[in-house]
Amino acid sequence: MTSPGGLPHHIAIVMDGNGRWATKRFLPRLAGHRQGMESLRRCIRACLDRGVGVLTVFAFSSENWNRPADEVSGLMELLAMALGKEIPRLHADGVQVHFVGERSGLSDKVRAGLDAAEATTAGNSKMVLNVCFNYGGRWDIAQAAARLASQGQPITELALNGAMALAHVADPDLIIRTGGEMRVSNFLLWQAAYSELVFSDKLWPDFDEAELDRAIAEFAGRERRYGQTSAQVAADSGQKAA
Ligand code: FPP
Repeated sequence: MTSPGGLPHHIAIVMDGNGRWATKRFLPRLAGHRQGMESLRRCIRACLDRGVGVLTVFAFSSENWNRPADEVSGLMELLAMALGKEIPRLHADGVQVHFVGERSGLSDKVRAGLDAAEATTAGNSKMVLNVCFNYGGRWDIAQAAARLASQGQPITELALNGAMALAHVADPDLIIRTGGEMRVSNFLLWQAAYSELVFSDKLWPDFDEAELDRAIAEFAGRERRYGQTSAQVAADSGQKAA
């Protein structure tokens, strides 16, 4: 779905490069994640200002548990801090917040915090923010299939779609990955079927409004064909315009 003016309705971001940002400055990796939080705050503001409908960010992957223990606990603390400090601000800005991912590995306190944040912001409609935490695309597909199977439902594309952890939003139009790497890293495997991918060399803490606008401009210049030919797409858009 594209909003007027070529603005993507749903933007998803792999916020990569926090560790390198810190290492370049001889700082601990956690300092990079803290700066990454600042960058996320700025990005949310920029998306709100531009009228983006949904922003989905990859904050902690199922595989991030394999990082050094102090980095994992630091990221958990950052999440707890964000719940206390950021949720009131997001609520005031009309943002509906969802935490997407497996909750069973998280502490009772964090789990209660995630539930409370979602309940507080549930009625907001300015923008949806999905924070993927302890998330993996393969986990999502498996949990959706397991849920359908346990209910004795046939596993069809439509049913799986409705059982996914991101069933409350349309699929992402634009997926941005910062940090110069060109991989998907188990992010939104199901939902990315027709997303446009844009890669930025900026490390996540350096990702700013100008770089967001560059990604949006690149998206706006793409032709989305959804399996059709270019001529069919042109004919369809001519019919819509008529
Ligand atoms: C990837 O960079 C980034 C992460 C694993 C964490 C992302 C977290 C934030 C942006 C802060 C917001 C956090 C919460 C809890 C909402 P990397 O560490 O893999 O960077 P590198 O490739 O340079 O090592």
